[in-house]
Amino acid sequence: MTERPWSRVLIRFSEVLLLGTISCYDADAAPAATPSAALPAPAARPVEFIKDIQPILSEHCYSCHGPDKQKGDLRWDVKESAFKTGDHGPIIVSGKSASSRVIILVGGLDPETVMPPRGERLTADQIGLMRAWIDQGAVWPATAMVARKAGDKRNHWAFKAPVRPSVPEVERKKWPRNPIDHFILARLEKEKLRPAPETDRITLIRRVTLDLTGLPPTPKEVDAFLADHSPGAYERVVDRLLASPHYGELWGRHWLDVARYADSNGYEKDRPRSIWPYRDWVIHAINRDMPFDQFTIEQLAGDLLPKPTLDQRVATGFLRNSMLNQEGGIEPEEFRVEALIDRVDALGKAFLGLTLNCCQCHDHKFDPFAQKDYYRFYAFLNNNSGGRGAGRIDNPFGQTEPIGRSACRQWIQERRHARLNDLGRARAIAARKQVSYPGMGSLLQHHGGRRIGPRFPSLGDFLVEFGTTGVG
Ligand code: HEC
Ligand code: HEC
Repeated sequence: MTERPWSRVLIRFSEVLLLGTISCYDADAAPAATPSAALPAPAARPVEFIKDIQPILSEHCYSCHGPDKQKGDLRWDVKESAFKTGDHGPIIVSGKSASSRVIILVGGLDPETVMPPRGERLTADQIGLMRAWIDQGAVWPATAMVARKAGDKRNHWAFKAPVRPSVPEVERKKWPRNPIDHFILARLEKEKLRPAPETDRITLIRRVTLDLTGLPPTPKEVDAFLADHSPGAYERVVDRLLASPHYGELWGRHWLDVARYADSNGYEKDRPRSIWPYRDWVIHAINRDMPFDQFTIEQLAGDLLPKPTLDQRVATGFLRNSMLNQEGGIEPEEFRVEALIDRVDALGKAFLGLTLNCCQCHDHKFDPFAQKDYYRFYAFLNNNSGGRGAGRIDNPFGQTEPIGRSACRQWIQERRHARLNDLGRARAIAARKQVSYPGMGSLLQHHGGRRIGPRFPSLGDFLVEFGTTGVG
């Protein structure tokens, strides 16, 4: 940040005193020119630059003060530029929003100049946020992004941090109960549509139970909700459903799809694999509300954490979900490479939201990634330290070191107990489905003449597979 040159400030200060002119850059020196009463009040909450301020600057100021144009020799995406002293004094006076040139301009207090000079003015809320940011010390963290030129490939919408939009105004002020309702109603009003009438409480509990657990509510749960007219009845149902183990089962399924989870190895033999501990890990992580950063770290490198727990090794099943070719006469190296390609693909899509896999063979005109980047990325995953069972897809306990047999056995037993509980629950669910859809069970069991149904591996099953993949 450029320091305010004190000599210059003093000179200008004396100018004010001598000439008696009104200057806007110091409220103490010239209170009449900055009637802060005419400014919207500063927001009362803690304000963060990246979350609250940068989106306003990006939307309303970058077009003239950004990477492409620097009107008034000023950039609002570069800290040093924003903190400099302009021709009318310092643009930002930390701790004193009412004396800051930028606030005077966006607040429309200077009859000569207003910012932005044309188009939509900032709203009172936005000015209040900017004031609070300055009053709270005008912290501009080093991690704040600098904007890129218009033609930069990295400007693609997918690489921009989502910006929290302001809540739209609506005509029917009484209808919305939360900010999301405002968005829905604003669009309905735009289309000249009226909201549908509120549904009955039976439908409500049915919908929310299906949404959160994938299961219908029991008659008892419906009755309890219908009888509960105290305030917060609905919120209590939601809390109960979020605490239900079925919540993780339903929502874990979405992640397991992205993680290409399967209970068999794929390719021609397509033998069963026991990677269900990873599936349980995902369900459990969602049920205990694991933060997403931890969820990411454990799945990508749980085995490389200091003193990794078995759970953290199991989490790396995300990478080991690749297909495994067990056909006779194949070239093992070819399919090891195939598995790595698959891992780059899964990682790109699941964590980066990008089809990184496309630049495996060639660059693309409009892609921000080149083939060279692809193989740099691939090298991370190709850095396996070796060892027995290392990198084996069907080694559910991670890649690098062998694990003691007793630790392995204890973990399996714990999981088995958990599975038995799951089984108990599964039976209860099946019984409930039987009530709702008589005949469903036999339909499922004899589908196409083949018995189908979930496979719950036994302890013996599990140990055999570990034993053969070099864990113990
Ligand atoms: C359409 C173009 C345009 C937009 C958009 C725009 N500005 Fe400006 N800005 C200018 C021009 C031109 C100047 C220099 C001439 C002047 O001082 O009037 C300037 C100068 C400034 C100055 C220095 C002026 C001084 O007197 O010290 C500040 C501070 C400023 N702008 C803030 C902003 C902020 C904050 C935004 C967004 C809320 C913004 N501007 C949006 C065109 C723009
Ligand atoms: C396994 C290697 C490989 C992968 C992965 C791959 N491509 Fe290609 N791509 C090729 C080859 C080889 C050609 C040239 C085919 C030809 O000219 O007959 C090509 C051609 C193209 C072309 C046509 C280029 C032109 O000038 O006509 C486009 C577009 C394209 N690929 C896009 C993609 C996209 C999008 C993806 C990811 C979904 C992708 N490619 C993934 C190998 C690959």
